[in-house]
Amino acid sequence: MKTKSWLQCIIPSCAKTYDIIERRTTCNCGELLDVRYAGDFPKSLQETFSLRLNHSQNIFNESGVWRYRELLNFAQVDTENYFDYSKHLVSLDGAEGRTKPFHLTRVADYVGLKTSNFWLQFEGDNPTGSFKDNGMASAFTHARMVGAKKVVCASTGNTSSSAAAFAANELDMEAVILVGEGKIAKGKLAQSLAYGAKVLQVKGDFDVAMAMVQALSKESNIYVVNSLNSFRLEGQKTIMFRMLDYLHWEVPDWIVFPGGNLGNASAFGKAFIELYEYRWIKKKPRMAVIVADGAPTLSDLYNKHKLRWNRGSIENSIINEYYNEVDQLGIKANTRASAIEILKPVNLKKALRTLEFTDGIVTTVSDQAIMDAMAMVSKNGFGCEPASAATVAGTKKLVNQGLISADATVVGIATGHMLKDTTAIVDYHFNPKNKFANTPITVEPDVSQILKLANS
Ligand code: F0G
Repeated sequence: MKTKSWLQCIIPSCAKTYDIIERRTTCNCGELLDVRYAGDFPKSLQETFSLRLNHSQNIFNESGVWRYRELLNFAQVDTENYFDYSKHLVSLDGAEGRTKPFHLTRVADYVGLKTSNFWLQFEGDNPTGSFKDNGMASAFTHARMVGAKKVVCASTGNTSSSAAAFAANELDMEAVILVGEGKIAKGKLAQSLAYGAKVLQVKGDFDVAMAMVQALSKESNIYVVNSLNSFRLEGQKTIMFRMLDYLHWEVPDWIVFPGGNLGNASAFGKAFIELYEYRWIKKKPRMAVIVADGAPTLSDLYNKHKLRWNRGSIENSIINEYYNEVDQLGIKANTRASAIEILKPVNLKKALRTLEFTDGIVTTVSDQAIMDAMAMVSKNGFGCEPASAATVAGTKKLVNQGLISADATVVGIATGHMLKDTTAIVDYHFNPKNKFANTPITVEPDVSQILKLANS
């Protein structure tokens, strides 16, 4: 099955189009771009996707990204012809995107929902431990299409780990990574170093590093793999496809996830906009984007300043004034959930579009609520990093407020693996004041004392 594909400005009054093999992250007018498709997308593809679960060791059917290749066919391959698509699609040998939603009884209780109505999808189960691998498979596919030999990204640690791994697995590809000095969790820094990327520690935070990458992309031909790259978002749509596939294409009432640079908010919305256009679904899910108290841009703009997509007629002055104030007051993002410690999300406008399409909401959660929620996920035998626990903390808050009704069906996305930020976990449990602290007890090497403690 073949598809026609191009890039197009997201703002309807511009709608300028570009060839699919252009290396650009923005329109000439400065706005973001979408990957667009024309073709036939019959609902019978659902059956094809199901059959591919029995993958017969075809890595592009094993891959939870490329199993849905018809719905992100910007490479314009023949999706039924192995010799054609295997040349073009990039995969970590089929390892990316092999995730699904799980029921977690204790966490369901904690957030106030019925176990049968609540799922958490662990994107930390990806090969580099975060959802980013979904988008890197597609971004590197495009990088290969345009003949890029070097990729760059700014990162709070997961994008960089994923980019570094994909670059290591490609022939003749180098990754350059910009991270805020001291701003990324050790596990993530370790990955980027181990995979062999060139790691540049920028004196500043993520927002500073991201601004550097945006400037670099204008001055050089280096290939950007941040979610500013529309091809990244195509792969991240499959997080929604897998969830729907698992739920037999029954749309849940709510989808809840953390917001940082707002790539997921953009990709998830685009997935549903397209499925709606293709008439695969009639119901739209409502989306809840959870941000940290210390990185509240989306919440401030959406809830306090009433910024809306407004069918593409956005009041830019609201955004400019907000950022001017942030700059003048020297405000910096500050949260223990370092993955979402971002004040100037590059995908803001696409996220607003998602919120409009899904009648979405945005809320903030405190670091304490995040850390308690993270501990609770682990008390259920699962695990995630702090930013991912914002999903659980946010769901709990919204159920408490009655914004999510107690009998709603809710899928939360847990974006990163528990072992990404072990410092955060150890610090939490070493402080007995924390609600779910499991503080270790120091003991002399004395059998009777140990037995006494073991039985206490
Ligand atoms: N959760 C985790 C674990 C993340 O690493 C990120 C973003 C987010 C949530 C937010 O997702 O940007 O799509 O809104 N991490 C980026 C990085 C910024 O560099 O690894 P988003």
